[in-house]
Amino acid sequence: MIDVDDKITSLLSEKRVFEPPQAGRETAAVGDLESYEREYRRSMDDPEGYWAERARELVSWFTPWDRVLDADLSKPEVRWFDGATLNVSYNCLDRHLASGKRDKTAIIWQGEPDEEVRRFSYGQLHEEVCRCANVLKKMGVKKGDRVAVYLPMIPELAITLLACARIGAIHSVVFAGFSAVSLQNRIQDCEARILVTADAVLRAGKIIPLKPNADEALEQCESIEHCLVVRRAGYEIGMQLGRDSWWHEEMEDDAITAVCEPEPMAAEDILFILYTSGSTGKPKGVVHTTGGYLTYALHTTQWVFDLKDDDVHWCTADIGWITGHTYILYGPLGLGGTTVMFEGVPSYPGPDRFWQLVEKFKATIFYTAPTVIRALMRHGDEPLKNRDLSSLRILGSVGEPINPEAWMWYHLNVGGGRLPIVDTWWQTETGGVMISPLPYATPLKPGSATRPLPGIDAAILNEEGQLAGANEGGHLVIRRPWPGMLRGVFGDPERYRTTYFEEFPGFYDAGDGARCDEDGYFWIMGRLDDVINVSGHRLGTAEIESALVSHPRVSEAAVVGMPHPIKGQAIYAFVTLNDGVDETPELLTELRVHVRTEIGPIASPDSIQYAPGLPKTRSGKIMRRILRKIAAEDFADFGDISTLADPGVVDDLIAAKQSLN
Ligand code: PRX
Repeated sequence: MIDVDDKITSLLSEKRVFEPPQAGRETAAVGDLESYEREYRRSMDDPEGYWAERARELVSWFTPWDRVLDADLSKPEVRWFDGATLNVSYNCLDRHLASGKRDKTAIIWQGEPDEEVRRFSYGQLHEEVCRCANVLKKMGVKKGDRVAVYLPMIPELAITLLACARIGAIHSVVFAGFSAVSLQNRIQDCEARILVTADAVLRAGKIIPLKPNADEALEQCESIEHCLVVRRAGYEIGMQLGRDSWWHEEMEDDAITAVCEPEPMAAEDILFILYTSGSTGKPKGVVHTTGGYLTYALHTTQWVFDLKDDDVHWCTADIGWITGHTYILYGPLGLGGTTVMFEGVPSYPGPDRFWQLVEKFKATIFYTAPTVIRALMRHGDEPLKNRDLSSLRILGSVGEPINPEAWMWYHLNVGGGRLPIVDTWWQTETGGVMISPLPYATPLKPGSATRPLPGIDAAILNEEGQLAGANEGGHLVIRRPWPGMLRGVFGDPERYRTTYFEEFPGFYDAGDGARCDEDGYFWIMGRLDDVINVSGHRLGTAEIESALVSHPRVSEAAVVGMPHPIKGQAIYAFVTLNDGVDETPELLTELRVHVRTEIGPIASPDSIQYAPGLPKTRSGKIMRRILRKIAAEDFADFGDISTLADPGVVDDLIAAKQSLN
């Protein structure tokens, strides 16, 4: 088992360096460090020239831009490729048909049952997408309308997103693990007209109903006119007359053809919204636009994953998160590659599931999260032993810092000690990878995301806003715009400005703590705000707290992250009950279920501790650093607690915590 304190110290003391592999360098997009450095300098000396060149090389535009960039981060105002038009679905499909890839496999879909595999050639995918686009049009969807998508990892998910892109509708994917309430909030926020969902989800051998959640959400969603339902699990559901219809019936309707012209979109038209947690309030709808996002998705897929025509690219994320948007769908398909889409989980039917699938599909690129690696590590190398992983050439990691122990295990056992690991730092807001090794160029240090990609002006600032020295911890900021950056928080320009551009005017504030070592390598330490990272997923403590206090017996709640050997961080909640309510074990279970219902299973607290009082300053602010220490059982030094209204609260909480053990 990994000791998490070890993780921090080992990140600080890690000194090993691994050189990139020799084999493969000649054909790599970037084959040596000098090329990377040359490109990086060029991108800093002439950013507009650099991005214009990349955008021309990678994307097919209907009409050219008038200006490459129009930006002022202090406002913030950012426009890339203004005046240009393009269509993302055209770039991911039509242009590949024209270049002889009609029969090439675009998507290999592996259902949870091993025998359920579907392969879509570019030709077939194009047809399905056009049909779906026509179904949406028939339902009245127009350019700029929002389409909410609440689907498991089935091909219809990819088809729906590309169909939206084709007609200029804005998709907003809601991860199928989220609850009815979460779905409802997201639909209401963006006023979606259509919801695409499925009867149920297949997960680890079980059927988990989905449409009933959608029904519950839709009771409060007046904007939804139509709900399109995919039959995935044969689960019996109710269909509301006039509102709901079946995907297969709509798609097979005689009036629906496989011809649909792609809508010319302005570069700055919105491509999608994706909600993500922040430190305050409800999740925010991160807005990505058409031209910049696509350019950046293709640029990073080509550089970071070195994706080529004969690769089989497998990103294990769910399309409900940004990683799936960019590196299952838009990046690989935009480059005309073959992408794997997997419905199941890493541990079912056994802990060798991933390796069995690498062997089965001869995957060449494999991209997953540290939490998955740590979970699989627990099973030792036995599940890997009889698997042929020789097809692999690049491994990737994303979502949280990877501890050197997990890195080494991944490198030795999955990579046979020969494969590069691209530890990619990025965020929902950045659209694509920002700091990462290039697989054939960058010497690796386990636990470091290494250096910024060309065009990315990353820096560490101290509290005063000055550049931090080597190895001095500080705030990770990006000092110039890049094409993939978010262009807003949907419907809330003020939140966009205050969240990302206020603390360090003129720069994008990532909200992460990091340090940069003497070689210019970045070491990401984690969030500096009240966001916790559970298994690579961002959750706002405020969101979980508000779910807890919405329970009728709870008067107050404070949530903090706690180190966890597999998940990275676990959720620890302190809960104050209303007067006269008994602190029973049954109520703890009820509270966990309540959070699951309000947000979803990923937000369910790992531990809940009753707290008759919370450590608050005289002005009423909860001192979370104290709670974090109590949750982690680190009772040694609480620092200055003299500003607390009632310092005695701390001793009570410690005593209660100790009595739990
Ligand atoms: O704290 C960083 C962490 O995940 C956050 C972004 O979360 P999200 O928007 O959900 O996107 C996750 C996938 C791109 C970041 O602010 N994070 C992501 N990748 C890494 C990371 N922390 C350290 N190393 C990484 N490679």
